[in-house]
Amino acid sequence: MITVQGLSKNFGQLRAVDRVSFEVSEGQLFGFLGPNGAGKTTTISMVCGLLKPDEGTVRIGDYDLWQDPRRTKRLLGLVPQELALYEELSARENLVFWGGLYGLGHAELSQRSGELLDRVGLADRSREPVSRYSGGMKRRLNLAIGLVHRPKALLLDEPTVGIDPQARNNILDIIRDIARQGTTIIFTTHHLEEAEKLCDRIAIMDHGKVLQTGSVAELAKVAGGRDVITIRGSFTGRQVQQALEGDPVAFLNAADGQATLHLEKPDYNLATLINRLGRGGVEVADLSVQKPTLESVFLKLTGRELRD
Ligand SMILES: Nc1ncnc2c1ncn2[C@@H]1O[C@H](COP(=O)(O)OP(=O)(O)OP(=O)(O)O)[C@@H](O)[C@H]1O
Ligand SMILES: [Mg+2]
Repeated sequence: MITVQGLSKNFGQLRAVDRVSFEVSEGQLFGFLGPNGAGKTTTISMVCGLLKPDEGTVRIGDYDLWQDPRRTKRLLGLVPQELALYEELSARENLVFWGGLYGLGHAELSQRSGELLDRVGLADRSREPVSRYSGGMKRRLNLAIGLVHRPKALLLDEPTVGIDPQARNNILDIIRDIARQGTTIIFTTHHLEEAEKLCDRIAIMDHGKVLQTGSVAELAKVAGGRDVITIRGSFTGRQVQQALEGDPVAFLNAADGQATLHLEKPDYNLATLINRLGRGGVEVADLSVQKPTLESVFLKLTGRELRD
């Protein structure tokens, strides 16, 4: 459904997106996971035709986005990171306004607005001005607007940013529902859990590059399928590295106060680890063992943690 090849964008000296390629098949829920400034919005903007790439191609179905913009843009819906709502209009009026821009007729618009307001749970408040809505309600309306012209694919840029966990889950349920009904979805997030729960496939992005793409299970293999050991205490990252120098241990990161690692040999177990750390003068206050998660994969690929 969507095929992106070698997409790049520079802003002056900054390479915001660097040769990004990916494919999303019909009905799939595809996520871009990355920290602030990773290049998610810039990528989404190029996929939906708001921003012209310096290099690369975007194909939507059988058409090239930049050679056939009118035909392709109709197939896409965008839910931008910044809310695009008229605060003084009601939810219904916002939908009618945006739908009108897509050339929907009066009768169709009225029916479609009702349908969407139901779907995002705003039917009973649909005649109030948007300025009276909560953050979560505005996000839901933003989502409905992206769907007004029945796009084949929906691009969602951080659709849950700045709202509480309950409102967030509510939006995730709606997105899941839209995907189930056959709409292809690309969405961006910097929440690991969101990506893990929602996506069929995930691209991990940092500094403009896609570092790895796969299902959660495929990505977990990147971390080697091995348990992830985290130690905490009043030590420096350097002390930990020195204490374990030459040992069969692979670090995911070693920061002051916290280090995360894998044990590389079966006979080198937790007891050996603690022993070696103790001999190196590293005091461990807390130790935990976890199955590899998206978090450990992210850590392995970027050397950094991705915190909400
Ligand atoms: N119009 C612009 N002019 C100059 N630099 C830009 C522009 N848009 C984005 N950038 C820069 O490009 C990089 C990628 O930005 P982008 O907005 O794509 O990141 P993001 O992954 O969406 O981040 P966030 O999670 O904060 O939304 C950043 O360093 C940003 O400052
Ligand atoms: Mg962004």
